[in-house]
Amino acid sequence: MKKIGILFGMENTFPQAFIDRVNSKGEKDIIAEAVTIEKVVQADPTEYAVIIDRISQDVPFYRAYLKNAALCGTAVINNPFWWSADEKFFNNALAEKIGVPVPKTVLIPSKERPTDTSETSFRNLKFPLAWEEMFQYIGFPAYMKPHDGGGWKSVYQVNDPHDMWRKHEETGQLIMMLQEEIQFEDYFRCYCIGQKDVLIMPYEPRNPHHLRYASEIKAKGEEAEKLLATIKEYTLKLNIALGYDFNTVEFAVRDGIPIAIDFCNPAPDADIYSVGNDNFEWVVEAAANMAIDRAKSHKSGQTNLTWGTFIKDSVGVSLQAPEIAPKATEVVAAKTVKPKKETVAKTETTETPAPVAAVKEKAPAPIAFEEIPKRKAAPEKVEAKETAPAKPAVKVTTKKAVTPKAVTAETPKKASSKTTKKK
Ligand SMILES: Nc1ncnc2c1ncn2[C@@H]1O[C@H](COP(=O)(O)OP(=O)(O)O)[C@@H](O)[C@H]1O
Ligand SMILES: [Mg+2]
Repeated sequence: MKKIGILFGMENTFPQAFIDRVNSKGEKDIIAEAVTIEKVVQADPTEYAVIIDRISQDVPFYRAYLKNAALCGTAVINNPFWWSADEKFFNNALAEKIGVPVPKTVLIPSKERPTDTSETSFRNLKFPLAWEEMFQYIGFPAYMKPHDGGGWKSVYQVNDPHDMWRKHEETGQLIMMLQEEIQFEDYFRCYCIGQKDVLIMPYEPRNPHHLRYASEIKAKGEEAEKLLATIKEYTLKLNIALGYDFNTVEFAVRDGIPIAIDFCNPAPDADIYSVGNDNFEWVVEAAANMAIDRAKSHKSGQTNLTWGTFIKDSVGVSLQAPEIAPKATEVVAAKTVKPKKETVAKTETTETPAPVAAVKEKAPAPIAFEEIPKRKAAPEKVEAKETAPAKPAVKVTTKKAVTPKAVTAETPKKASSKTTKKK
């Protein structure tokens, strides 16, 4: 018997529908259930061949549990190691390298110093940073958002440098990105499951939350066909490079070119009350089929994770470079350096103590934000948290509008006739 588990938090509709869909398919020796954790012991395998992770971004305990599970053979979706390593700024850079258009983006140091750091932790930053050059490159209006975030938290539209500084005041220890604003004629959110099934959903981010999927594609005819084909190609390209099996990619379309805005959503919103009935049905079906495939291909005694081509190619390159590796016989042990008594640090610190000469110089202030006078007016966030309170099904008046508009670039395998009859 192979078990598929789902690990989830506050969401109410997707997890049970997923479990029911897997079980309704009547696959021999495969069942799905909610994951149960009673204790977590190092190197102890779990009872699951596959776990769909919908919540470890908010519960670090689960992330650690999942890494241990993955080490012991569970196919954890999405790969918890990659998810931990990944963030949006890196993703944008990777997209550029693989030829997927993204908005021009720069990285900004946090407003507040990270806990337990001091001015001296920032000596490698040149003061002031090249703000003018960055502003020239990005232009205004722009977006400022966390380099590692989600759920529309701390996402700001900024109109000029002063506006940016004021809003930056609110961002604490978050590392922010300043990003070119894409003024778009069309906007899409695309589900990508198992790095092969793509659902392209027209999406209007300027609508209230419950109406965002009640949108229609504006491009027409051949232009629309070409656009959707390109979006599908880019969605697959990104997920294959990153190694996600369950993700959404957002595109803003400017002058007919889809530009990837947000593609680091490894636990994307799948709630029936936000995505609508038909999109929900597609996601449940595609996720169930993907989980079953992964359970079938699961092999005991090895890891069963998906890795993106970025990692696979990196590992391949280093393995293929034996000529630069030192010969085994030439390993020379480094001489032990006896520290002089007076230079031994008395207190333990996570930072390497700086050379005495360097310490004597005045350390440059890390960032220029302090120079900008604070203003009284509280900046408005572009949007509140993405997660809206779930609404009862009967009150959803947009079901019909949402239903026909998703464009299934590739239809997941159909539910078995048994399932269809049941519904
Ligand atoms: N560069 C941009 N140009 C235009 N709109 C943007 C840009 N960046 C973000 N947005 C808007 O802000 C929303 C939230 O930003 P996003 O990057 O998706 O963050 P999150 O991961 O928190 O959802 C997007 O859905 C989009 O509507
Ligand atoms: Mg988003």
